[in-house]
Amino acid sequence: MLIGGPLEFNPNLLSSEPLPDISLQMGYDKKNIYWARSGRSAISLVLETFREELSEGWLLLPDYQCWAVNSVFSSVKTKNISVTRKLILEDNALESSLKDPELKGVFLIDYFGLSNIESDISLIKNKRPDILVFVDAAQAFLSIVMNSDKYACADAIISSPRKFLPIPDGGLAIFPKQKIKSLDKAADNVAQQQNALFLSASSMRTARRSFQDDDPLIKDFESIYLKKFKEHNELFNNEINPISAFSFEVVKRIDLHALAKHRVKNFNFLKDSLISKKLDIVKPIFCDDSSPALVFPVRIKERKRDILRAYLQSKGIYCPVHWPMPEGKEFNLGLESKVLSGEILGFPIDQNCNTSTMSILLEEIHNFSKLS
Ligand SMILES: Cc1ncc(COP(=O)(O)O)c(C=O)c1O
Repeated sequence: MLIGGPLEFNPNLLSSEPLPDISLQMGYDKKNIYWARSGRSAISLVLETFREELSEGWLLLPDYQCWAVNSVFSSVKTKNISVTRKLILEDNALESSLKDPELKGVFLIDYFGLSNIESDISLIKNKRPDILVFVDAAQAFLSIVMNSDKYACADAIISSPRKFLPIPDGGLAIFPKQKIKSLDKAADNVAQQQNALFLSASSMRTARRSFQDDDPLIKDFESIYLKKFKEHNELFNNEINPISAFSFEVVKRIDLHALAKHRVKNFNFLKDSLISKKLDIVKPIFCDDSSPALVFPVRIKERKRDILRAYLQSKGIYCPVHWPMPEGKEFNLGLESKVLSGEILGFPIDQNCNTSTMSILLEEIHNFSKLS
């Protein structure tokens, strides 16, 4: 049994006819959307598009972010702002940053597609109509699919469809108020290498599903495909590059609205179950919301996050951490972000999950609580 983890490509995905216009399915015209290689690639395009405006001051970034992405901002001056327990910007800190005339832009992150950042966008645009607002919706790709107006007042939105779909690569940069700069970059060698690594790792993971749980070969088999997924991941960089032709062909054939609805259903099931079961060590971060989120984010109390995660993994349930602090690197983090980084865990709610896989997850957390 495998629950969560990388989404595997299935060749049947290519058997249907492509949708006539995938950008329209996203609610935007082609001229406002750039399908990039990754979320990082999309951020680079946004920074490049507004280079002149940003060169005269600095950009405000939340201190809780994907650390692997940090280097993409090296071309601009940035300052960090702390987030609260609820993963929103600290009100007072935001108000005081907005008073600085050197502030040229704010980069807001919609964590998991659950942060309700629309009120921050309006506040910033009201108080400082002269500055740029960018939205990082890397974890909220399907929220845009469900509601294309979600961040309509922002100057640019980036996302990472590759996190939601069984594709080797895929990012998105949306410019709601202007046309994208014309870029005619052809797919390069890196895309081909990534496709090959992803497809072989993904087929091995699919094959792994039919192994018996006590098969002695599982360990070696897993270590081979995990190495391939790692190599694939390490090939992402900050360059502005288009999505590969292969990934785009797959995206064009996926019913994104159906996927979004499936995730909302899974999200609500897990939310209701966790509220009614009251598992002591598990504290949901967003209890009032409902969204086609990337995962169902919780805090694991009593310093048990890593042992619970290892226990679940031993049962074939893969829960990501967004984001562990990289070793040996010092980031200027607020207290809340440091604590969060040690407690947060994402329960899988992807398209391969359903009430039965989520019930297994809940059962295993219950078993873990009895053991520890
Ligand atoms: C919030 C956020 N922004 C941006 C990115 C970058 O996306 P990608 O990995 O597709 O470059 C990530 C990746 O994890 C992310 O979590």
